[in-house]
Amino acid sequence: MYRIRTYNALSEKGLGRFDSDRFLLGPDVEDPHAFILRSKKLHDEPVPGSLLAVARAGAGYNNIPLDDYSTRGIVVFNTPGANANAVKELIAAGLVLASRGIVEGINFVQSLTDFDDQAELSRHLEKEKKRFRGSEINGKTLGIIGLGSIGSMVANMALELGMRVVGFDPVISVEAAWQLSSQVEKVDSIHALLAEADYVSLHVPANEHTVGLINEEALSKLKPGAKLLNFAREQVVDSNAVIAALDSGRLSRYITDFPCPELLGREDTLLLPHIGASTQEAEENCAVMAADQLMDFLFNGNIVNSVNFPGIRMKRNSGYRITFSNENVPRVLGTVLSILADHDFNVIDMVNRSRGEVAYNIIDVESEPGENLLVEIGQAEGVKRLRLV
Ligand SMILES: NC(=O)c1ccc[n+]([C@@H]2O[C@H](COP(=O)([O-])OP(=O)(O)OC[C@H]3O[C@@H](n4cnc5c(N)ncnc54)[C@H](O)[C@@H]3O)[C@@H](O)[C@H]2O)c1
Repeated sequence: MYRIRTYNALSEKGLGRFDSDRFLLGPDVEDPHAFILRSKKLHDEPVPGSLLAVARAGAGYNNIPLDDYSTRGIVVFNTPGANANAVKELIAAGLVLASRGIVEGINFVQSLTDFDDQAELSRHLEKEKKRFRGSEINGKTLGIIGLGSIGSMVANMALELGMRVVGFDPVISVEAAWQLSSQVEKVDSIHALLAEADYVSLHVPANEHTVGLINEEALSKLKPGAKLLNFAREQVVDSNAVIAALDSGRLSRYITDFPCPELLGREDTLLLPHIGASTQEAEENCAVMAADQLMDFLFNGNIVNSVNFPGIRMKRNSGYRITFSNENVPRVLGTVLSILADHDFNVIDMVNRSRGEVAYNIIDVESEPGENLLVEIGQAEGVKRLRLV
């Protein structure tokens, strides 16, 4: 029986993945093997000695003290891509809202509460509607910076809407590259992309390379009147530079999920309260993915989508599987294999991966290892956490 402590309101669909015959699940579970959570901040939370893994239902993980958990050998998972469709659909809306007088038109009509005569209202609407004239996105160029889970979906969607798509991502993953339509034109620099695009959409993480990526210099390369969508992170854009570009007309619209006080009240902005991933489906997808990854780790020792451990997975070959993490230094694995050989244990298959200072191993053996053997392996120099799964 595995014990899972839950934090936050997680989707029932995700929690339903845990079979009650094999899991004890709930917010008050003692000595948990794992946590599953959304945004609960773990920095001040005691870390139980029993804890093996944390599954975060969502992409970001700055609510988890990663260094501390890594040092303790606790595997932390996230759910990249599970909310990508939700963001993609909001980008579709953002492109259209940025191009047509939809928000302004709705606000205008709603304000006409003094009209009580249909004919008079219709005449007034016909007279005023030219104020809300817009343009179409069909045939325009969308520049996408960051072609990961979200960026690649946005690219394919924009092609279907009749747009030309140029993309920039110097470190695109193999999975994202497979998803991406061959019609997306790749450019070698952000500046080249900015010079071509009528619309620019940002889909990069906030990190030391992307903070302030869209600054005064970058914005100066834009086509006059271009529109910028930021559904990535606040820090990726220098908001003062955006305001200057809006004031000068270089930028005609800024559409973002990350408003700041200086942008409030401007007619050339569309500001949303960080609702990119706020759909029932995205919340379910994240919870299901977090639960499935956690179960695969607990039952099989496989690690998929960890943010602090290497990705590693092996099909089960026998009923007996030893997994352990270790310091990523020479001879640890050799020592463990020697111990197994000394005990006449035959290894059927094994896999070893490392990431930074940590390494992780899965070893399938022919027969059931006894307690003494496991203790010996667990005490070998460099071995951190050992499990028989
Ligand atoms: N608005 C929201 O509610 C919301 C929801 C989900 C994600 N997000 C944001 O969207 C970002 C992207 O999400 P994702 O799931 O597509 O992540 P992802 O990791 O799948 O993709 C990010 C891509 O950015 C690329 N990249 C990194 N640095 C780059 C750079 N300097 N220039 C160009 N490309 C670069 C990476 O190679 C990767 O392909 C997240 O990091 C998050 O900040 C926002």
